[in-house]
Amino acid sequence: MPATKEQVLQALAAVKSPDGAPLPATGKLSDVVVSDGKVFFSITVEASAVQAWEGVRKAAETAVRAVPGVTSALVALTGERAAGAARSAPPPAQAPGHAHAHAPRGERPVQGPPGVAAIVAVASGKGGVGKSTTAVNLALGLRDLGLKVGVLDADIYGPSMPKLLGIRGRPETLGGNRLKPMTGYGLTVMSIGFLVAEDTPMIWRGPMVMSALTQMLREVEWGTLDIMVVDMPPGTGDAQLTMAQQVPLAGAVIVSTPQDLALIDARRGVEMFKRVNVPVLGVVENMSYFVCPKCGERHDIFGHGGAHAEADKLGVPFLGEVPLHMAIRETSDSGRPVVATDPDGPHAKVYREIAGRVRVKGFFGRRCGFPVEIRRRLGARQRTDVD
Ligand SMILES: Nc1ncnc2c1ncn2[C@@H]1O[C@H](COP(=O)(O)OP(=O)(O)OP(=O)(O)O)[C@@H](O)[C@H]1O
Ligand SMILES: [Mg+2]
Repeated sequence: MPATKEQVLQALAAVKSPDGAPLPATGKLSDVVVSDGKVFFSITVEASAVQAWEGVRKAAETAVRAVPGVTSALVALTGERAAGAARSAPPPAQAPGHAHAHAPRGERPVQGPPGVAAIVAVASGKGGVGKSTTAVNLALGLRDLGLKVGVLDADIYGPSMPKLLGIRGRPETLGGNRLKPMTGYGLTVMSIGFLVAEDTPMIWRGPMVMSALTQMLREVEWGTLDIMVVDMPPGTGDAQLTMAQQVPLAGAVIVSTPQDLALIDARRGVEMFKRVNVPVLGVVENMSYFVCPKCGERHDIFGHGGAHAEADKLGVPFLGEVPLHMAIRETSDSGRPVVATDPDGPHAKVYREIAGRVRVKGFFGRRCGFPVEIRRRLGARQRTDVD
């Protein structure tokens, strides 16, 4: 019998806050999500009180795990920004227990998941430009180059990876507090979508989102990976800044459509990563042109080439253009990504070429490539630098 929310709240009543109050009475709990034996909630406290609450977070997890029918528990502790702080202020420090989780603006944190050599964000300024589609097919293209690849779905409000990769089921819990990632098409994958039922309202607030990201990175047994592709949520707000600050990103790939408005957002994306010292590996132009399924003729319906010109202007590499094609949409929407299911087709070729450029730029590029310590870790020293 799976546990109920009432049972979980009852167990939490035995956990005391630093000043002795039962946890559910403190008003600091988010909604407690109980789904099929998986429990997920957050404790939000003032940023200055985070240290004092870390023991409470741990005790809460232990108490919840002891409830019969609970198979895993993930409790996020987040520090809330003081009321009235400017929107543009850096995100609050959070998720203590990891000394390296705090990274002052502009300073690169030093540690990610221990076995992961390079973490690359796929981002865009604007939603709906095809980030997730690009992320998954880029990951598969990198896999085809012989790399061991993981995908982290960092879009907490709108996770895409379960659907895009057609992965069902729940991650197993390993030794109490670590999760085993899912796998699909040879990729190691983690998404909040595996932990929460699709119809669960995404009620979490900003700080919770940030902490969930940190936990998916650090409390998941990622194993040994050459590269982890992170599907970022849209925009250049707090969540992106937090990722860029707290995750040792080796580089970022910016996805844009050729339209003017999307390009303005892409520029913002490039600038955000530059500001936090994450090298921009390049720009992908998605939905770049349309190939008529009847006559096979190519139509530049959005004034194709805008992203290439913009990348040149910004001084970042251009990684390639992906056509607007029904096959890309249909395969994505049905959990059969085109690179995996039509590996000899034209679209797979496009994505593999982009993956090849990401690999070359990231691993071997001097100007826009990964920081030297990451390249060293990847054993790229024997290879010639490019740019
Ligand atoms: N090159 C393409 N050709 C045809 N359809 C595409 C292409 N790229 C993406 N799509 C479709 O566009 C829609 C949005 O794509 P996707 O979910 O990858 O965008 P996103 O930037 O991740 O969106 P969000 O901002 O919501 O996370 C999806 O239905 C996807 O199948
Ligand atoms: Mg997406």
